[in-house]
Order: sequence, then structure tokens, then C-alpha cells
Amino acid sequence: MIEIRKIQANEAVELQNIAKQTFKETFSSENSTENLEQYLENSFTLQKVESEINNPDSAFYFATEDKHITAYLKINLEDAQTEIRTKNTMELERIYVLKNHQGKGIGKLLLQKAIELAKQNKVNFLWLGVWEKNHSAISFYEKYGFVKFDQHIFTLGKEEQVDVMMKLEIGEL
Ligand SMILES: CC(C)(COP(=O)(O)OP(=O)(O)OC[C@H]1O[C@@H](n2cnc3c(N)ncnc32)[C@H](O)[C@@H]1OP(=O)(O)O)[C@@H](O)C(=O)NCCC(=O)NCCS
Repeated sequence: MIEIRKIQANEAVELQNIAKQTFKETFSSENSTENLEQYLENSFTLQKVESEINNPDSAFYFATEDKHITAYLKINLEDAQTEIRTKNTMELERIYVLKNHQGKGIGKLLLQKAIELAKQNKVNFLWLGVWEKNHSAISFYEKYGFVKFDQHIFTLGKEEQVDVMMKLEIGEL
């Protein structure tokens, strides 16, 4: 049985583990090990993960299957957003499902959770940044109505990459 639940303050290690594993699984084939390791080391320290969990303007959710953690979601409001940072928008910063659990409806449940939170917070739109080469994720978002509206630069280790920014108008749903 798949369940979606809010991550607790004492689950930083579990979050760190799945964040690192899913990031590696998603990006290792198309990026150098050096750039990937540098990003993982800097971005997923326990201290950083703990402070992100404790940020009142962010929220993390785990998806579990028979209590086993298989995916996670991170959303940001207000100043926790990595760009835009206005009151009436919400960022979907991360949605990652373990590779061997993809295609079972977990991503859809997490996305539905993000949309539910966006509605609860009465934002105008939900937005995200996705690597231009992550075609699979881009088509997943397009399936649910996200449209491209801009792009920004994302630094992975020593490499600058283009992130496509996509948004889903919430008012229209
Ligand atoms: C993208 C991702 C979140 C989708 O999650 P998932 O659990 O595999 O997807 P689901 O099984 O919930 O699929 C839900 C629906 O989307 C469709 N779908 C899934 N992946 C898709 C894709 N890449 N392109 C188009 N449609 C897709 C499914 O066919 C399904 O459609 P249906 O309900 O009509 O049958 C997941 O594959 C993932 O974690 N990928 C790697 C991490 C990543 O790239 N994250 C985004 C970073 S910005």
C-alpha cells in the first residue's frame, strides 16, 4: 500500500539517504562522477537537510510502500523558493521516486499532493525548474499540464546547466 506522509523532524538521515540515492540514479549516466559527487557532498549534508526540514516555508513528504520509503517531495513557499519568491506562488523543488519503484503511480500521488498544497495555500501557480536534458521528467510534467515559461542556470559541480522553468496555473484547476 502506498502512503504519502509528511517527513518528521527526526527523519533527516532517511531523507538524506533517499535524496542522494535518487539524485545519483537520475543524473549519473549523463554527468561526470566528479561534478555529481561535488554536488552531492555540498547539497545533501546532514546539517543542510536538517535546516531545510526545519524551514517553516518548506515541506517534505515521503511516499512509503508497506512502510518502506520509496520517494520524496519538497515544496517551497515564500522566501524558501529558490527563485520568484512571491507570496502567491509555490515551488515544487524536488520530486524523486527510487528507480525500481517508478511507473507504479507514486510520482502521480506526490504531484497530486503538491497541487493540493498549492490550492490550500491559494497560490496562483505552482512552478519548478528541470534540467533541459531531463526529457522524461519534462514529459511527466507536461502530461499534468505544466508549461514552459522561462529558463535559468543551475550549477552542478563545475558545470553550468540550463534548467527549464515550468508552471501550472492553479486558479484554472
Ligand atoms: C518523473 C517521476 C517523478 C514520475 O514518477 P513515477 O512514479 O515514475 O510516475 P507514475 O507511475 O506516477 O506515473 C503517473 C502517470 O504519468 C505517466 N508518466 C510517468 N513517467 C512519465 C514520463 N516520463 N513521461 C510521460 N508520462 C509519464 C505514467 O504513464 C502515468 O500515466 P497514467 O496515470 O495515465 O498511466 C519519476 O519517474 C522520477 O522520480 N524520475 C527521476 C527523478 C526526476 O527526474 N525527478 C524530477 C526532477 S526535476
